Amino acid sequence: MKKMLAIHASPRGERSHSRRLAEVFLDVWQTANPEAQLTRREVGRASIPHVSEAFVAANFYPQPKARPLAMQADLQLSDELVSELIGHELLVISVPMYNFGIPSGLKAWIDQIVRMGLTFDVAQDSQGVAQYQRLLVGKKALIITSRGGSGFGPGGEYEAMNHADPHLRTALGFIGIDDITVIAVEGEESVAEVFRRSSDEAEGQLRELARSF
Ligand SMILES: Cc1cc2nc3c(=O)[nH]c(=O)nc-3n(C[C@H](O)[C@H](O)[C@H](O)COP(=O)(O)O)c2cc1C
Repeated sequence: MKKMLAIHASPRGERSHSRRLAEVFLDVWQTANPEAQLTRREVGRASIPHVSEAFVAANFYPQPKARPLAMQADLQLSDELVSELIGHELLVISVPMYNFGIPSGLKAWIDQIVRMGLTFDVAQDSQGVAQYQRLLVGKKALIITSRGGSGFGPGGEYEAMNHADPHLRTALGFIGIDDITVIAVEGEESVAEVFRRSSDEAEGQLRELARSF
């Protein structure tokens, strides 16, 4: 059975374009896969804790299997988020561009799920240099992103200023999720017609992709 984890990162509800497009995609996907399981994880309108000193101490405790109980408690939510991610082979992330990057709620989620020993591992080679192992291979991800401006995509005038979906590609790739499709809608801050064209194009691509995802 297919299992999809849908993560919404916009703090906006019905006004959010990334969220709306993701829901269009999920609707078509669910119709095409009536037996599939869909789990939603809200990170835009619900608070995911930022990294704290206690989290860092617990996360990097030298003997993870002998972590004191108090430290285990500091990692409880992170453990849940990691298990949730491990348990789904398909991932959809809807995400606005905020100040050329991703909103802090989604960044907080990334910081909770990139976990040594669980989603990646590190060992030293014969020269003592760290070698990283990606533990979450075999998954597929779709990033649906909305930007107020235009030209942030591949080959665009402002491509180099886009640290949103490229950051997600890097962070997810680091833990093994490298089969990633990005579909963007641009120009919410442009005239309505420019934005409508971009939105219609993104929606068409998503409807098509949903049938085979
Ligand atoms: C705090 C904030 C920062 C933003 N920064 C950018 C930006 O750097 N580049 C851009 O093109 N649009 C920017 N925007 C516009 C959003 O990307 C745009 O409104 C997008 O549609 C938001 O996604 P949503 O509709 O899913 O909420 C910003 C909006 C806000 C509220």
